Amino acid sequence: MADGTWYDADIDRVIVSEQQIREKTEDLAKQVAADYRAVESVLLVGVLKGAVMFMADFARALGRYGPKTEMEFMAVSSYGQGTSSSGVVRILKDLDRDITGRHVVIVEDIVDSGLTLSWLRKYLQSRQPASVEVVALFRKPDAIKVQVPVRYVGFDIPNEFVVGYGLDFAERYRELPYVGVLKPEVYARS
Ligand code: XMP
Ligand code: MG
Repeated sequence: MADGTWYDADIDRVIVSEQQIREKTEDLAKQVAADYRAVESVLLVGVLKGAVMFMADFARALGRYGPKTEMEFMAVSSYGQGTSSSGVVRILKDLDRDITGRHVVIVEDIVDSGLTLSWLRKYLQSRQPASVEVVALFRKPDAIKVQVPVRYVGFDIPNEFVVGYGLDFAERYRELPYVGVLKPEVYARS
C-alpha cells in the first residue's frame, strides 16, 4: 500500500493494490488465451489514455499465454475535466487500419455508465470484424446506465471516482501503480 511516495499523500485509500492488479491481469490474459487458442491472432484495441497501463501489461501477459496480438489505439472522449459522464462520445483518434475479419478485443480501463463502451462496441462492430469482445480491468456495477456485454472483467469496484494505473483526475495520477480514491481536499484545491 502507501509507501511514502508523493502521491500517497493525496490518496484517501487504496481500492485495488499493485499486486492485485498484477495477479488479475495475468488471470485475464489466461482466460483470453484459452478462449482464443484457435485463432491466428487477436487485435487489441486500447482506449486512450486511461487503458494505457493495462494495455501494456495485459498485452505482455497475453504474449506469454495466448495467440499473437497486434495493437491498435483509439482515443474517445466522454468526460471533460470533471468526474461525471456527459454521455457524449467524440472520436479524438480513430483506428489506423481496417479491422474487417479480425478478432477484436477492446481493452478498457473502466466501465462506469457503460455509455462509452456501448458506443465503441457498435462503432467497431459496424466495421465487419470477425468478433468483438471486451476486457475491462474495472467496472462500477452501481453506475451502469446502459447494459453492455463485457466478457472479461477484472474488478467490480464501488461507485466512486478513482485514480491511478492510467486513470486520471485532470490528467494527473495516471502513473500510480495502484488504484485509489483521492482525498476530498485534493478536489478542493484544484
Ligand atoms: P462511461 O461512463 O462511459 O465512462 O462508462 C468510461 C470512461 O470514463 C472514464 N472514467 C473514469 N476515469 N476515474 C477516472 O479517472 C474514474 O473513476 C472513472 N470512471 C470513468 C474512463 O476514461 C472510462 O474509460
Ligand atoms: Mg477510458
